[in-house]
Amino acid sequence: MKPVKVGVLGLGTVGGGTVNVLKRNAEEIARRAGREIIITRASAKDLNKQRICDTKHISLTTNPLDIINDPEIDIVLELIGGAGPVKDMVLQAIANGKHVVTANKSLIALHGNEIFAKASKQGVIVAFEAAVAGGIPIIKAIREGLSGNQIQWLAGIINGTGNFILTEMRDKGRDFYDVLAEAQALGYAEADPTFDVEGIDAGHKLTILASIAFGIPLQFDKVYTEGISQITRIDVEYAEQLGYRIKHLGIARKTDTGIELRVHPTLIPERRLIANVDGVMNAIVVKGDAVGPTLYYGAGAGAEPTASAVVADVIDVVRALTSDPENRVPHLAFQADALADIAVLPPEKFKTAYYLRLHAEDKPGVLADVTKILANHQISIEAIIQKESFGDETAIPIIMLTQTTLEQEMNAAIAEIEALKTVTGKVNRIRLETLR
Ligand code: NDP
Ligand code: HSE
Repeated sequence: MKPVKVGVLGLGTVGGGTVNVLKRNAEEIARRAGREIIITRASAKDLNKQRICDTKHISLTTNPLDIINDPEIDIVLELIGGAGPVKDMVLQAIANGKHVVTANKSLIALHGNEIFAKASKQGVIVAFEAAVAGGIPIIKAIREGLSGNQIQWLAGIINGTGNFILTEMRDKGRDFYDVLAEAQALGYAEADPTFDVEGIDAGHKLTILASIAFGIPLQFDKVYTEGISQITRIDVEYAEQLGYRIKHLGIARKTDTGIELRVHPTLIPERRLIANVDGVMNAIVVKGDAVGPTLYYGAGAGAEPTASAVVADVIDVVRALTSDPENRVPHLAFQADALADIAVLPPEKFKTAYYLRLHAEDKPGVLADVTKILANHQISIEAIIQKESFGDETAIPIIMLTQTTLEQEMNAAIAEIEALKTVTGKVNRIRLETLR
């Protein structure tokens, strides 16, 4: 059979890794795909730049359209990134009848609904395994492996850069910006690293996971996002004293009233496997009604782990080349006309437990005032510790863990606690999940 011809847009971390893996494992890949797969063309912005891959026998260009409009190319790999000009490139490739493989989560989270509709109309595949959790085949696991289940919730560490930063800060006491610079040098970070640090990248990934888990359209604008920049060393230490780790999680949960989509720092019991996922590694727990909890673990970023997912998609596309488009696995797991319009809940309706840290005067009755406010809002306290004051400081730290409550009750309680004359400054609140 004729070899399948692939054109690669972008020869950076992921593009370079993909060229290396496709070349190095060409023989095994052909045995799996049933056909030889060859990269004939590739594009990058600066053709004089040193690459991590060997581009011998690949025709290079600075203009991605040379590849997208080349009738010889069967599959276009979009490995440039961003949701701007790249969207038009992908739509043009689809219009030209080419299958597309992408690692671009912002593109899928923001424009996936339109892209998949156009791809289905053209009878082509847009595959995006590498867009979520790097090398972990989580899209395939949920879309195919768990397709007999009602997914109840999923929770994951889905940003490698953020987890790398948190781990290095906790274990080695390193400075936030120093570790971020290392993550950038290692190729883990997004072109704009605030996407990693402020939870936007995790929000894009959660959008995709929720869509394939619950059969809803992609809706990034409804995801609540908080990043890791507000996590302090003191909270990490107090959490550990209470038997918890702070991890940056993406959480999607189906409730009776709608779907929670949230990304934020979260206390999780240290005995949970996911609490011990460190460095650039990612992990996702998916709870299905039939299978129960399942856990997926692996490298969340980096050249070859991500290439592993890209190449797996290429092989899937090659295997599907001769199949009837109507009978392929749907892009978003559920048939396009069966996507459900389930409400995504606003943050006030989230139900979760909390870690609270506040500073209050060290005198009788102060703690009682705080606990009374919580009780008035039906918030039960799970644990409480009161720390010694330092030197001449009159305010002492009080740390509390609460049971699950409605976020709007917690917001109101915090406002009342902060208004107490005996409480100084803001109440620091971090959500807590037992992930039972
Ligand atoms: P890089 O910045 O390393 O690579 C981007 C590549 O695109 C570069 O080769 C660059 O060229 C090329 N490029 C940029 N603009 C253009 C243009 N206008 N025309 C042609 N080529 C262009 O990014 P990554 O490899 O890290 O990321 C690529 C995608 O993969 C992103 O969507 C990212 O979110 C995603 N991703 C990244 C992961 C990672 O670990 N890095 C993991 C999972 C997904 P040049 O090299 O000449 O500058
Ligand atoms: N910047 C992303 C991360 C790349 O660190 O997780 C993988 O999607």
